[in-house]
Amino acid sequence: MIKFEVRPRVSAIDKRIVLGETRRGDRALIGEMAEVGPTTKVFLSLDYEHVVGIFGKRGSGKSHLLGSLVEALAWHEVNSDLATVTTPRGAILFDLLNIFQWMGSSAEAPPVDTRLYHVPGYAPPDTQSTAIRLRPQELNPEDWCLLLGIDGLREPMGQVLYEAVPIARTNKRDRLEDLIRTISDFGVRFAPETIRAVVQRLTSYGSLGLFDKDGLTLRDLCRDKSASVLLFAGVPEDVRSLYVFLTLRRVYEERVHASQIEKASLLGKAGTVVSAYEHSIPKMWLFIDEAQNIIPARNASYAIDMLVRYVREGRNFGLSLCFTTQQPSAIDNRIMSQLDTLVSFTLTVPADLTVIQNNLKNQAPREITRQGRPLSFQDAVRSMGVGQCMVSNIDSERAVFIKARERLTPHGGFEA
Ligand SMILES: Nc1ncnc2c1ncn2[C@@H]1O[C@H](COP(=O)(O)OP(=O)(O)OP(=O)(O)O)[C@@H](O)[C@H]1O
Ligand SMILES: [Mg+2]
Repeated sequence: MIKFEVRPRVSAIDKRIVLGETRRGDRALIGEMAEVGPTTKVFLSLDYEHVVGIFGKRGSGKSHLLGSLVEALAWHEVNSDLATVTTPRGAILFDLLNIFQWMGSSAEAPPVDTRLYHVPGYAPPDTQSTAIRLRPQELNPEDWCLLLGIDGLREPMGQVLYEAVPIARTNKRDRLEDLIRTISDFGVRFAPETIRAVVQRLTSYGSLGLFDKDGLTLRDLCRDKSASVLLFAGVPEDVRSLYVFLTLRRVYEERVHASQIEKASLLGKAGTVVSAYEHSIPKMWLFIDEAQNIIPARNASYAIDMLVRYVREGRNFGLSLCFTTQQPSAIDNRIMSQLDTLVSFTLTVPADLTVIQNNLKNQAPREITRQGRPLSFQDAVRSMGVGQCMVSNIDSERAVFIKARERLTPHGGFEA
């Protein structure tokens, strides 16, 4: 590993530094300093919510680090060298390449609690996972438009859905067939070919088995000290987008509800003091590996707006986000500006290096040298090896170089 000589030195206490604001001491080990000086462990504080962006070129270590954070949150011990997690928190990981399916399969009694889920029709081979069927009654018109890849405001098919969904909901018609019947009954108000097209497409999604009025509630994915891994390899973009953005929205809504109950009980308005968790879901982390691939080609603005709301307001409701991408320059500015922790593995494209430098969350080092040779910040980032990264956190002294820790559970991100 290349160790940089970096000035000013960061101050470590007990041979460790904790990035982020601290309160109770919840934290996850992410690696050790890759700077000349005493061996120093580096943790990310888990006391408060985070929005973490992990960037880097192919094979640099992004998914590996994302998996380390999942590992820490789902670790079986409350207190270990790896992590301290005393506040109930759960994790959902969207796995586009099915590389995280082995996390919980390392031993007879795996040290992490992970549960695998798949989209009906796309079960991974030789893997125990549960199919997630969505409840049609939980989908808004926007969600249907996302699935059908149509513009809800401009296209007549979208208008049909905007009218039909509230009617089906009011009449408590919860099955997909009920929505289809409601649309078929529209008669002359829409062109028959428009009605036919919507009905045909909904019917074909129905035949894939994606929907069930008694399907899994998304709440089932949110469990304390446990990671739900949604395996999406091979799933078409429109279906995958629906699953990701519906989960994102439902988790957000559930947490808003939980926070309100929590606050009401703290303020003595709920009669008896109840834990919000009994009624709803724990605080949650959402993990998106390869984030550039989850924004749908059509309806991108609906999806991005939802992500922006999640990162901007989610922390007030106990929600964190961590995503990876090879292309920092492709991430919406509104999301880049909400990051509190920016992690960069090595990058080579000058435009990407500039985005990293322009979006640092704290001071860049004043001086970096390697074997006596001065390096610019961008040269240092460019010259890092696999597993080495720069971490810039809004609540810490300056950007630091670290060697990300090795995973304790199997990582599937290698070529085979
Ligand atoms: N911190 C680390 N310690 C040891 N080995 C690592 C570390 N990080 C990554 N590696 C090795 O590098 C390989 C590639 O890492 P990873 O899958 O995280 O890359 P990536 O940045 O996600 O690449 P891609 O953009 O192709 O998905 C891993 O299989 C692992 O062998
Ligand atoms: Mg990866």
